[in-house]
Amino acid sequence: CGIVGYIGTNDAKEILLRGLEKLEYRGYDSAGIAVVNDAGVHVFKEKGRIAALRQIVAEDVDGPVGIGHTRWATHGEPSRVNAHPHQSETARFTLVHNGVIENYEQLRADYLADVTLKSDTDTEIMVQLVELFVKKGSQVEEAFRQTLSLLKGSYATALLDKQNRDTIYVGKNKSPLLIGVGEEANVVASDAMAMLQVTNQFVEIMDEEVVIVTRDAFTIKTLDGKKVERLPYTAELDASDIEKGTYPHFMLKEIDEQPFVIRNIIQKYQNEDGTVRLDDEIRGAMKAADRIYIIAAGTSYHAGLVGKQLIEKIAQRPVEVHIASEFLYNMPLLSENPLFIFISQSGETADLRGVLVDVKKKGYPALTITNVPGSTLSREADFTLHTYAGPEIAVASTKAYTAQMAVLTLLAVDTAKARGIELDFDPLQELAIVSSAMETLCDQKEKLELIARDYLAVTRNCFFIGRAADYFVCLEGALKLKEISYIQAEGFAGGELKHGTIALIEDGTPVIAIATQEHVNLSIRGNVKEVAARGAYPCIISMEGLDQDGDAFVLPKVHEYLTSLITVIPLQLISYYAALHRDCDVDKPRNLAKSVTVE
Ligand code: G6P
Repeated sequence: CGIVGYIGTNDAKEILLRGLEKLEYRGYDSAGIAVVNDAGVHVFKEKGRIAALRQIVAEDVDGPVGIGHTRWATHGEPSRVNAHPHQSETARFTLVHNGVIENYEQLRADYLADVTLKSDTDTEIMVQLVELFVKKGSQVEEAFRQTLSLLKGSYATALLDKQNRDTIYVGKNKSPLLIGVGEEANVVASDAMAMLQVTNQFVEIMDEEVVIVTRDAFTIKTLDGKKVERLPYTAELDASDIEKGTYPHFMLKEIDEQPFVIRNIIQKYQNEDGTVRLDDEIRGAMKAADRIYIIAAGTSYHAGLVGKQLIEKIAQRPVEVHIASEFLYNMPLLSENPLFIFISQSGETADLRGVLVDVKKKGYPALTITNVPGSTLSREADFTLHTYAGPEIAVASTKAYTAQMAVLTLLAVDTAKARGIELDFDPLQELAIVSSAMETLCDQKEKLELIARDYLAVTRNCFFIGRAADYFVCLEGALKLKEISYIQAEGFAGGELKHGTIALIEDGTPVIAIATQEHVNLSIRGNVKEVAARGAYPCIISMEGLDQDGDAFVLPKVHEYLTSLITVIPLQLISYYAALHRDCDVDKPRNLAKSVTVE
């Protein structure tokens, strides 16, 4: 979910709606805004996208203060009733919330037995508690702090009081929240992008802090009321980066941007003499670690799997890769000097943050590899490596994934150098070759569109098989296809399909096989024969030098360590065109959110 708030001199409604549009990547199953003016509080909410909300917001209601929310449902189905903002019993207080209140049922039983709740959400109890404490004699700010002190879980929240139109109360714990400081206006939001229309000056809010925001001031306090001083910083974000220009979808634009992203990374991490440049502290931490633990989710996890291979092969250090949401339950025995690497496009994923907090408590060093340097994971880790991919808006991750793998390559190379290992390849030059290969691939959209139409326009399922490095790309290719086309897709190690899943192969089931690894080329082609003999419709994507007659698509040759960076491009494009053929919403697939800030 994402939240936004505005207090200033302009009409809040349009600023809130535009802000929410920029936050839609955080969830889009319902949305709402509340605007306050002399006549009172006006709440508008609707199921679905911000566009649907726009339709029902009354043109003639304007006011200089308001809050808004776009939702990714956790407690309570996506519906108008469960959409935020939520109001207290007398409607004096109105509140939006991103996060999960774990003890809401307990709080409801302990404090709100006499109150009839209108929604099924965990959020509503927050606004009811504020009203309860005010009724019992607390000042509003105090009641807000009292309420937040009782909560277990995560929140970024904003509260309006109908009786005091000069103030928005906000609070944060675990979920991201920033204050934007403008001229005669202040804004609050889950992400700076939502506030660029008003300002580029931001103030960070830490966990368990509240902020009392007025038109020309903001006061940060701890939950027990102590004042905190913090200065704004200027964000170097460019609003034009978050427009899709002439492209029909952000996803296509972001796929096409990959060659430039790789060039950008080369430039950012290059010394004048053409060698790799990484921060000395990061090099020191990598050198000191006897084992590296990569923690990530979704697509970033798939980049982590490739990263493990790169670091182990190039820098000869042992690496484990773990799914963030499982790590704390299935914690491995840690080595003596571990280093944790958190890979996250957004830098906000709550599952990762849970692990980071635990790791920091235990005193271990942590490095975040992220596309958003000011993000929570970046701020809270000891070191950050920036992936320089530019804002990624489409929910399905593309350029962030290849950027992560490129940065992991450089990290591996830098660590190898620090450990005195001689390399037999020039990483920056090889990445430049990757960048050109990506361009060649992006120019072959028509061919890939035909493959998508032929194999995926009507199928129910699809399997991806590959061996060695190709296996990891199969996992990512399957995830892309699932996310945006809703085809049930799975990636398998070439040798594994026959141990069970081959039972699902029917006449015409598409099996996309990746064959870019010389040492397993014959084995993977053997697996293709096995599935073809059982009726599958195989599509082989191979690489120059390893290709055979009948392959559906041949990739340009790149260095063997870097094949994953280009193999994924046809898979991204095939998924994109499959989704188009199936009339799916490419940039905003159902049920997903780009940045998941709940555990
Ligand atoms: C969400 C997105 C995925 C993404 C994952 C991890 O589930 O829908 O596309 O891979 O989060 O996100 P992160 O920002 O941590 O890389």
